Amino acid sequence: MHRHSIVLVLSLALLLVAHAGQYCGLRPPSGALSSSSGSSSGSGGITTTGNSSADTSDVVASAWYPGWEAQDFPPSMISWSKYNSMIFAFATTTTDTSTIALDDISAQALPDFVTLAKSNGVSALLSIGGWTGSMYYSSAVATAENRTTFVNAVLDLVSKYNLDGIDFDWEYPARQGLGCNVVSSEDSANFLSFLQQLRGTSAGKNLILTAPVSLTPFIGSDGEPMSDVSAFADVLNYIEIMNYDVWGSWSSTVGPNAPLADACAAPANQQGSATSAVSAWSAAKFPANQIVLGLASYGHSFSVSPGAALRSNGSLALYPTFDASNQPLGSADSPGDATALDPCGNPEGISGIFTFAGLVQEGYLTENGTAANGIDYVYDYCSQTPFVYNETSMVMISYDDATSFAAKGRFINAQNLAGYAVWDVTGDFDDILLDSLHDAMGIVSVCE
Ligand SMILES: *[C@@H]1O[C@H](CO)[C@@H](O)[C@H](O)[C@H]1NC(C)=O
Ligand SMILES: *[C@@H]1O[C@H](CO)[C@@H](O)[C@H](O)[C@H]1NC(C)=O
Ligand SMILES: *[C@@H]1O[C@H](CO)[C@@H](O)[C@H](O)[C@H]1NC(C)=O
Ligand SMILES: *[C@@H]1O[C@H](CO)[C@@H](O)[C@H](O)[C@H]1NC(C)=O
Ligand SMILES: *[C@@H]1O[C@H](CO)[C@@H](O)[C@H](O)[C@H]1NC(C)=O
Repeated sequence: MHRHSIVLVLSLALLLVAHAGQYCGLRPPSGALSSSSGSSSGSGGITTTGNSSADTSDVVASAWYPGWEAQDFPPSMISWSKYNSMIFAFATTTTDTSTIALDDISAQALPDFVTLAKSNGVSALLSIGGWTGSMYYSSAVATAENRTTFVNAVLDLVSKYNLDGIDFDWEYPARQGLGCNVVSSEDSANFLSFLQQLRGTSAGKNLILTAPVSLTPFIGSDGEPMSDVSAFADVLNYIEIMNYDVWGSWSSTVGPNAPLADACAAPANQQGSATSAVSAWSAAKFPANQIVLGLASYGHSFSVSPGAALRSNGSLALYPTFDASNQPLGSADSPGDATALDPCGNPEGISGIFTFAGLVQEGYLTENGTAANGIDYVYDYCSQTPFVYNETSMVMISYDDATSFAAKGRFINAQNLAGYAVWDVTGDFDDILLDSLHDAMGIVSVCE
């Protein structure tokens, strides 16, 4: 159905719009009809239907590509035609501000990634940092001298790899992440100064500069979320709100990994959501049309006894207690992970993470992405996310499916957000999540 409508719109648009060169991307039917003048900024023209004021502006259709998985999932496996921006993760900060590191697998895959992105009209971004790569962000931006060094290091990467932009995934300014990151109360102010300096260079002027962020605005020098982060919006193209890992093995009960809303949950279960995060960033004066919603193509697993998992009528309970001492192995875990050490020297532990594809491969979901026979399923209409449960193995998983991706897509449109970014591009199965999202957002393909 979906494919047919794209083809129809495509041929219609080709008839209506004079083919002015190379531009070929994804556009809405209404946009194609009302804006024959075209407004092709950037490379991929992906736009949403709906408000006519939004019709001609490109939506951000993006995902992160985990470079360290390049051997199992080479860049050629990405569904390039469905995106207009792709972010390679991660380069990492080091003790030496002039050195931004790439592991061997990533360094080998990045040139291919960039070549494939460009040949598909997709912007190629490199993400610096991540959960384990943010240790020295604070020192890299701490002084004017270091900021200049770091700006030059970033620009060297841009020119070496022919990048279209940089994604600053600092987890987190002025707040501890991994456990041994350098942290300063001045981090957010220094980060802003650094971004302003980078944006002010001739090489940095036209780069796509982005930052994945928490559900709450950047932390100020008083240790609280800042009330005005508008200066960041002047130098960043957009932020990506990392609306996932809201609940996981560290939580007191099972809960939604990536809740769309939480005001409808019991007060104790209001741990943040896409809705609360967009409100918080908007209240702190960050424009909605520069907010990209981060989406999860994975979920977190918990060991839950049938007594806690099942209601008396047999349906799955929400927020049940779980056995933290018995963390299930996720599809993303390898044997040895439990004892492997993170960069702080602490055991990594078992993540318990299942990708959506892993849920299919391990029999929780059918190849249609729906719950398999013998697997309990509930869709929580408050968080707008599903849960599955195997009564024999006692494994419960909070994740995202086609239904929850569609709900998030409608939210992105309703809030006039800039678009979406999926962590990560390898997690989907047969593009079930991505296609459902695009359907809900009204993203279609046209050429002009
Ligand atoms: C369209 O955009 C205008 C201006 O931003 C807004 O007032 C209006 O509510 C929007 N309409 C719809 C249908 O989203
Ligand atoms: C500046 O960067 C160097 C490493 O290149 C680091 O040793 C130093 O601590 C940084 N300065 C500050 C104030 O963090
Ligand atoms: C089971 O009970 C819960 C809580 O009362 C209710 O929300 C749910 O709809 C019921 N499910 C079925 C299948 O009756
Ligand atoms: C997937 O859905 C199609 C159409 O509804 C159905 O024919 C097919 O049996 C389903 N496959 C699985 C594995 O459930
Ligand atoms: C549930 O778990 C049991 C025990 O690990 C396993 O044998 C069974 O295949 C699982 N059920 C489904 C439907 O995957």
